Parts: sequence; C-alpha cells; structure tokens
Amino acid sequence: MLLKERSKLILATRNPHKVIEIKSILSNFNIDIVTLNDYPDVPEVVEDGATIEENALKKAKEVHRATGITSLADDTGLEVDHLNGQPGVFSSRFAGDSATYAMNNAKLLTLMNNVPWERRTACFRCVIAIAGEGLEYLMEGRCNGYILNETRGDHGFGYDPLFYVPEYAQTFSQMPASLKNQISHRGKALQKLKCFFENIA
Ligand code: IMP
Repeated sequence: MLLKERSKLILATRNPHKVIEIKSILSNFNIDIVTLNDYPDVPEVVEDGATIEENALKKAKEVHRATGITSLADDTGLEVDHLNGQPGVFSSRFAGDSATYAMNNAKLLTLMNNVPWERRTACFRCVIAIAGEGLEYLMEGRCNGYILNETRGDHGFGYDPLFYVPEYAQTFSQMPASLKNQISHRGKALQKLKCFFENIA
C-alpha cells in the first residue's frame, strides 16, 4: 500500500512564541511543520513594507524562494484607536529598533497615561500569507480589546499583558494558551485558511 506523503510547510519566523501558537492551532492537520530555525542559512527577511500585508507576503515569498517549501508567514500589528492606529506596522520596534517587549509595553503605557477607559480601545490585526508553487494566499484575523493601564498575567508575549478582552474579563496573558489561540487575531486568520490546510493535509 502506498502511504500518502505528508505535506510540508515552513513557518517563515524564528519567533518561538509564534511557532508554538501556530503549531498548536494547526495541530489537527496532517502537515509536517518546520521553521526557519531548521534552516539557519536562510537570511533574515527585512520587514520594510508599508503595511502588515506587504511584510507578510514578502516574508512568505522570500522563504519559499530560499527553501522551495510552501511557506507561511505571519505579520501582526496592534492598532490603538487613541493613537490613530499606532503602533501598527511598527509594533515590534515601537520603542526603537532593538526594543524589547517590556520597552514597547512601557512606551504604550506612557502614551496611554490618563486616557479614559472608553478611549482605550484597540485591535490586534494579523495577516497570514502563504506562498508556494503557483500559490499565494493572504488572510486576515482581528481581535478587539482594550489597553490596560498596567500589565496583567504571565503567559504569552509582546503586548499580551496589556491587551484586555472584555468578553473573557482577562488579558491575553491571563488566559490559557488554548483560549487565546481560539479567539486571537492569529487563530482567526488561520481558521479562515482551514480549507487550504484540509486540501494539503
Ligand atoms: P511581527 O512583526 O508580526 O513579528 O509582530 C510585531 C510585534 O507585535 C511583535 O514584536 C510583538 O510585540 C507583537 N505581537 C505579535 N503578535 C502578538 C500577539 O499574539 N500578542 C501580543 N503581541 C504580539
């Protein structure tokens, strides 16, 4: 009997938090998932796009070109209404080029100091791009919430401890990973690609 060869997908990221989340969300599919950590020679992709869509597609295409494997890239931005959509595409370097998560969170807290609750609304927007042979997909997922005036919780990464989801009365950092993956921007974008994964798995 011929066994169907498992499809392979490379995650165009070296971010361990993203890798864990994406692998967990895609765990029901029969796909071999590798990451850029398995391909150390692939150069870092410069994220110089004007939008998260451009960055996601650029990462997916460059990693597919370098490895020949169908590639999945995630680009995410936190869009804060009071800050006219900032940090948005600059989310990872909000407090400077080599900013840590703590530095970005501190800058956000400073800018949101004394802003009343009803004006603390924000949205996490994630764009997932897939690039392969004759293949290009873009899918977006959003999650709405509020920016707290202090960090809460120990899980997750990035802006998670400041991002409060009113429906669950907790931040992304307080909730179990399984709940975040179900309701998050990243989880929703990946669920929209379910058909794609069902076809390749
Ligand atoms: P990237 O450009 O997609 O890697 O993400 C930009 C920045 O957004 C990251 O450095 C994190 O600070 C933040 N970020 C991305 N995804 C999440 C998330 O799921 N929760 C909290 N912060 C995130």
